[in-house]
Amino acid sequence: MTAARALTDTHGRTIDYVRLSVTDRCNLRCTYCMAEDMTFLPRRELLTLEELAELARHFVARGVRRIRLTGGEPLVRRGIGDLADALGALSVDGLAELTMTTNGMALPAHAARLAAAGMRRINVSLDTLDPARFAAITRGGDLAQVLAGLDAAQAAGLAVKINMVALNGVNDHEFAAMLGWCGARGFDLSLIETMPLGEVSGRREDSYLPLAAAREALELRYTLIPSIHRTGGPSRYCDVVETGTRVGFISPLSANFCASCNRIRVTATGTVYGCLGHDQNVELRDILRSGDGAALDRALDRLLKGKPARHDFDLSDPEPAVARHMSVTGG
Ligand code: 5AD
Ligand code: SF4
Repeated sequence: MTAARALTDTHGRTIDYVRLSVTDRCNLRCTYCMAEDMTFLPRRELLTLEELAELARHFVARGVRRIRLTGGEPLVRRGIGDLADALGALSVDGLAELTMTTNGMALPAHAARLAAAGMRRINVSLDTLDPARFAAITRGGDLAQVLAGLDAAQAAGLAVKINMVALNGVNDHEFAAMLGWCGARGFDLSLIETMPLGEVSGRREDSYLPLAAAREALELRYTLIPSIHRTGGPSRYCDVVETGTRVGFISPLSANFCASCNRIRVTATGTVYGCLGHDQNVELRDILRSGDGAALDRALDRLLKGKPARHDFDLSDPEPAVARHMSVTGG
């Protein structure tokens, strides 16, 4: 039996947060996330639900306190409810929080089950409240379905945070309206700068919008008070006086936050990446399938040893920082 050691890297950071992708597939095709003709992995290459649960158990034994299920779209993975149950049960072993990032489309079918598994809050990606613009950004998505999903989440008692990617010339006139709408629904809002992950159809620097501009737009209408609230991620929050909710700013490009990075990311095929913006990784699938716990520990130690100090996102570079899309690494 290997003694449980914390996952500490060579830059003095302790990893207690894992983003676990359960599929690279998605029922939407957001323009900033995917290429139009995106191809997906054969299903047999994915970790099974049992392997995902086993990996999660191993992470918790190494001190991981929070797991976020991601994708692609996690709710399109068959058996996601069973996986949520298995991971929810890890609370007795020290898992403090199980969360999910979803596009919300399938929440009517899943919200109650997720809540029953012990999930308390979820992030829902929503970049616009305009149905036509939503269809354009997501290449055909139906806004009404997401809104129904949000109703289902609230009915199930899940706290919701909306993730809105700030897109210059697309949704940059909607920040205040989105904040007002979120406030009325009791949702927190996070604004996110676009990151150069994978080839997409347009030029990313055209849609990049530094969040300082978004914040200025919000402050014309709302009073934002910087808050010490943290959710264990890179978001910097403000309390919104008028709504009683919060707005967070995730600015990977304009304000690097890597010094406090606490996370690693596992793809649906069991490749674990030290950083969203680098290729440094370790393959866990074969090790998992061998059932050798000590080898799994050594693989994680190897990953932590090489975890990059920071991403080097640079939008003036015509190449994306990494070739893999967000839907592959796990948003
Ligand atoms: N840059 C910034 N955010 C992205 N997302 C997906 N791709 C990108 C990108 N290239 C967002 C999604 C989701 C979250 C997981 O990441 O909208 O909210
Ligand atoms: Fe799907 Fe999310 Fe990517 Fe949109 S951003 S295509 S919802 S994985």
